[in-house]
Amino acid sequence: MARTEPVYASFRAIGAYVPSKVLSNADLEKMVDTSDEWILKRTGISERRIAAEDEYTSDMATKASKIAIERAGLEISDIDLLVCATVTPDYFNMPATSCIISDKLGIKNVQAFDISAACSGFVYALSVAKAFIESGMKKNVLIVGAEKFSSIVDYTDRTTCILFGDGAGAAVISATNNQSEAFIDLHASADGSYADFLVTPAPGCVHPVSQKVIDEGLNFVQMKGNETFKLAVKTLTKDVKDILAKNEIASEDIPHFVPHQANYRIIKAVGDALKMKEEQVVLTVGKYGNTSAASIPMAINDIWESGRLKKGELMLLDTFGGGLTWASALLPFSGESK
Ligand code: ACO
Repeated sequence: MARTEPVYASFRAIGAYVPSKVLSNADLEKMVDTSDEWILKRTGISERRIAAEDEYTSDMATKASKIAIERAGLEISDIDLLVCATVTPDYFNMPATSCIISDKLGIKNVQAFDISAACSGFVYALSVAKAFIESGMKKNVLIVGAEKFSSIVDYTDRTTCILFGDGAGAAVISATNNQSEAFIDLHASADGSYADFLVTPAPGCVHPVSQKVIDEGLNFVQMKGNETFKLAVKTLTKDVKDILAKNEIASEDIPHFVPHQANYRIIKAVGDALKMKEEQVVLTVGKYGNTSAASIPMAINDIWESGRLKKGELMLLDTFGGGLTWASALLPFSGESK
């Protein structure tokens, strides 16, 4: 590709993997003081997937990646950058899960690193892919959102264990000279003053592994659910309104609104504020729960596999998570339709 022509990043292919084990609301009723009715009403979640004990974030990521690379019509050797978004890496914190994925895929001599932005990780990874491609540094970037969230969930804590699930989604982002395939806009942001809304206190240099960590369960995710909920609705609504207004696109012209799948009530509130019709809003939270960085690529994969997402159609992505972080993106799907 001649460097005299402008180069754009385009979304070429999507893939996903979910573990086979299902954890239903009925299962959770036997584990903590909760009910199917409460979970469904407050979150819209019916079930989530749980990885096997010896199935790691990198394993799920590798499976999703192979599918995405094949659907992009590329060889493994065409990938020149691998970015994995995860807050449940195989190891805290070395080696990066992306390095393990590159080995499992058989990719040699390729730059690979992880991004930690919780549920916003996949859209953060998209922004990295865009920057590397549009600067001319890379041509085919593999981005993965993968989580074994069950590894940091306390299954005696009813306020968190009902929410999360495991899974992985991957996308290939490639260079193109065709402007109609380019990302339209992407906005990513963070505010660390809300860091304590969603936190896994250990292990880290604040709380290195110790008996106290085990005794106090500091290795498990902690969340100020209600505060996070309110801020999520407010921030996400503003974020999507801003990106649409800035690009002079009306919400009715978005065929696929793909929000982070944290809670049906958050998605409904943001969708309603945008006056979105039901068929515009992608929903997978009911069957997968909140899979953090994997949630958006898993949701895109869902509409691609069901034939709803066609080549050239516009996607509006919107996410919010620990950090706190948030991000939105407007882009066409530039891969082949199923
Ligand atoms: N079953 C039954 N009762 C429960 C359960 C449960 N599983 N969990 C909490 N309750 C009780 C509480 O104890 C409380 O009881 P009380 O009134 O007697 O004190 C009552 O239900 C209400 O609790 P709230 O926390 O106020 O319930 P809320 O309506 O806020 O729903 C939820 C909780 C589902 C966690 C919601 O707040 C939420 O979805 N928050 C946002 C999550 C999110 O978006 N996270 C960001 C991304 S995640 C990431 O980045 C990794």
